[in-house]
Amino acid sequence: MSKFPKDFLWGVACASYQCEGAWDADGKGPNIWDDFCHDPNAENIKNRDTGDVACDSYHRYREDVALMKQHNIKAYRFSISWARVIPDGDGAVNETGLRFYDNLVDELVANGIEPLITLYHWDLPSALQDKGGWLNREIIPAFARYAEIIAKRFKGRVRCFMTINEPQCIAQLGYGNGAHAPGWKLPEEKVAQVYHNLCLAHSAAQRAIKAVCPDAQVGVVPCGSLAYPEKDTPAGREAAYQASFNLNVGWSFNIFLDSLILHRYDDSASDAVKRFAATIDPKDWELMETPDFLGLNIYQGFMVNEKGEEVKRYPGFPLTACKWGVTPEVLHYGPMNIYRRYGLPIYITENGLSCNDKVYLDGKVHDAERIDFLHRYLLELSKAIAEGTPVRGYLQWSFLDNFEWGSGYDERFGIIYVDYRTCDRIPKDSAAWYADVIASNGEIL
Ligand code: BGC
Repeated sequence: MSKFPKDFLWGVACASYQCEGAWDADGKGPNIWDDFCHDPNAENIKNRDTGDVACDSYHRYREDVALMKQHNIKAYRFSISWARVIPDGDGAVNETGLRFYDNLVDELVANGIEPLITLYHWDLPSALQDKGGWLNREIIPAFARYAEIIAKRFKGRVRCFMTINEPQCIAQLGYGNGAHAPGWKLPEEKVAQVYHNLCLAHSAAQRAIKAVCPDAQVGVVPCGSLAYPEKDTPAGREAAYQASFNLNVGWSFNIFLDSLILHRYDDSASDAVKRFAATIDPKDWELMETPDFLGLNIYQGFMVNEKGEEVKRYPGFPLTACKWGVTPEVLHYGPMNIYRRYGLPIYITENGLSCNDKVYLDGKVHDAERIDFLHRYLLELSKAIAEGTPVRGYLQWSFLDNFEWGSGYDERFGIIYVDYRTCDRIPKDSAAWYADVIASNGEIL
């Protein structure tokens, strides 16, 4: 018997700025990542890499879809570049830009691959940033209008929409510490305002999509740190639950999800966040829309003991190339605890690792490390499912190696290798392995 439900959605994920390239083609407007990478006064990105060409998926999407089909991929989560569709964010629609996504969706559907659309994966049109970006509430109707345009275009062809990818990274990295575009460094109360506006923008977009496609499933894709227990005892599990939602322990899923779904802030919120919360117009809570599902991006977690204290990693703890911990248990307890708190169906919308992949003498890319990582994480995910967590699908990050934000092209997350000199693609060993996992619905694990 397979450890995964019969209609489990096995897929891969990527995002517009990270793979499309064609940064100024066919009427696309500039976005904040174009600006951040091109900034002559700051080295915001390692090696001054940019997404100008990236994997050139804008021109090579047919080849990519063919590779997906060849590897049994059932679903592709991609994001739409807002500035490609509406160059200034809230003005005229760029029909040529929209047609690119039309063609991509048609190609996926023709090959039996389900398209899953993310509306916003961090590449805000620059013109909207000039008006304050996510700090300015005026962005909410602009985002809802964009959502409506996309919903109208893809009605009947796309059943699953995700509004915002990782509000936590947008707020903390984009507006808090400035590590990501737009590179702003604002005080905590302003960052809290960004979170709040993101909640309202998700909600307005969800209403806009549902008005056009009442049967669509609309989700949001948060991230954060999640705990797993040192000992699998009732006390250990409870401690992991409590630590996962304690806002004193790094960023957490609930900084966004508690306000969106539970309409409150956790007691562990900082004083600055509480000060901001006290200024919220009570009518705002009525505007919050509970998503149909949660997309969880989960890469690593932290271990806690029964007292809820973090257990330090031992010397030589397994790490990925970008030094993230290899902690498969997080895919067992993480989704379970998110489900316990919010009660919504779940997709794992991102999971994977970066490796120092290279082409071997035989011309192939042998990434045994990735296979081992994915294998371990999927086994743990199957335990969450066996314990009753409604996990509907798993989208590996990422199909292609791609532009990894501040690290540029130094990090390789793909199951398909990309030679950035030519944009040629070489399937890695993990791609063949993942194809077998999918073909057996996880039974070979
Ligand atoms: C993001 C991706 C990113 C991945 C690996 C997530 O935070 O959604 O865009 O490439 O993690 O860092």
